Parts: sequence; structure tokens; C-alpha cells
Amino acid sequence: MAGGKRGEPKGAAPSGEAGAGQSLHVAIVMDGNGRWAKRRGLPRTLGHRAGVESLKRTVSAASELGVRWLTVFGFSTENWSRPAAEVAELMALPKRYFETDLARLEREGVRVRVLGRREGLSADLVQIIEEAERRTAHNDRFFLQVAFNYGGQADIVDAARRFAEAVAEGRARPEELTEGAFAGLLSTGGAPAPDLVIRPSGERRLSNFLLWESAYAEFVFQDVLWPDYGAEHLKAAIEEFQTRERRYGGAVADDVLAAG
Ligand code: FPP
Repeated sequence: MAGGKRGEPKGAAPSGEAGAGQSLHVAIVMDGNGRWAKRRGLPRTLGHRAGVESLKRTVSAASELGVRWLTVFGFSTENWSRPAAEVAELMALPKRYFETDLARLEREGVRVRVLGRREGLSADLVQIIEEAERRTAHNDRFFLQVAFNYGGQADIVDAARRFAEAVAEGRARPEELTEGAFAGLLSTGGAPAPDLVIRPSGERRLSNFLLWESAYAEFVFQDVLWPDYGAEHLKAAIEEFQTRERRYGGAVADDVLAAG
């Protein structure tokens, strides 16, 4: 069983290794909308709307800073537990974003992919998502993945279930399951692993985001609320990332020689 039905886009290096300016993959937990609104005496919904504007700024900045893949966390499988009015507002955000920006994304060579479960989303929203993916499917200059109704554990379970079904139907054998094959069954299948995971807002958690994919990612936590996020914050995070030494579980050759 080669790859999943949602394994596109293909063609990217499967490893997480990338240098800035090449095909850097940055993932962001867009956190702090609620606190941003509260500090201003505004309803949380306005914090989320301001968050959409930050996303627009960040997509533009990312492309200028040499990022080729950007994955953002828009709605988690756990966010359904929020009050109904807030969930309704969060469900309206993709429409708000694509209505104003899809034509530009399409024109500027951005390929959009929405990660996560489609079950539970309204038919209208699924249509909006599918239109964004279809209209940008030919693009390959920049990849924008929006995790929406996404949970890392749910995504792993869905992938495991797909593989189990393939085995049960005789389309796959258990021994064919490798780390690489399994990665291809996730909703991120075909994308390189994130190099850098950023969480603004001062929280220091992964919150069920890209659990499998971030195995060797570097983490940068920033004390800025998402609606205030901009190019300068992304630049600072990338500069911090560039100071990190990535060993992928190995050792630095010089240190091995020095010890011997
Ligand atoms: C977490 O902040 C943020 C969210 C649950 C929503 C994030 C969504 C956006 C920023 C806009 C996304 C746009 C698209 C196109 C999907 P929080 O509300 O938990 O903040 P808090 O921790 O301060 O309460």
C-alpha cells in the first residue's frame, strides 16, 4: 500500500532536514487570541478575527524569509468543547480567510492543504476547503497547511485504521509498515517534517499538534500573543532556529574524534 489517499502533495524531501532559504518547514500554534481580546475588553471572537489578520501577515513574511512550508494550527479536535458561539466563530474563520485571500494565494503560487478530519465540519465549510485545495493544486512555490479539526493523536489513529483496513482487505501486509510508509498515511503525508515549531503566547506545550511529524523539530516559544505576531517575530524565531545544532539522535563528528 503506497501512500494514503490524502498523501498529496508529493515531491518534497521526506526528511525534516532543511536549511533556511531552502525548503524550511515552519509550524505554528497560533495561540493567544482569547487573551489578546480579553486585555482589550473585547469578545474572544474579535481575538480570533485579529488572528486571521496575523495569519495573512505571517504567510507573506514566511515566504520572504525563505520558508517554503508553513503549517498552522487553526482548530483542534479538542476545541469542540468551547462554548457554541466561539466554535461557530472558529468555524467561520476559513471562509473569512479564503474569501479575501484565496485569489492572491492562487496567483502567488501557494498550494493550500487543510489537515484534519472533514467529518463534523459543515457541508459549506468542506466545500470552501475543497475549493481552496482545488484552485491551488497546481502551485508549488509555497505550501500552506492549515490544521483544522485536527489532532495529532486522532491523525495517528486514522492512519493506523487505514492501514489496518488495507491489511484486512488484503491490500497490504503488516511487514510493509515502516516509519516512512506510516508517515505517508497521515494527513500530512508527502510533506517534509517540520524543522521548527513555534508557539507564541508564552505557553510551552505542543497541544496535540504534529505529534508524529515533530519528532526532530526544534521548538521556539515566544512571549507574544498571536494577534500581535508579525514578520519580526517570525524572523527572530528563524534566527534562533539557525543557532541550533540538529543531531537527529546522532553525535557531532568532531566530538567523537575529540573523545577518542
Ligand atoms: C488559540 O487561541 C487559537 C485558536 C483556537 C484559533 C486559532 C485560529 C486563528 C488564529 C485564525 C485561523 C485562521 C484560519 C484560516 C483557520 P486561544 O483562543 O486559545 O487563546 P487564549 O489561550 O489566549 O485563550
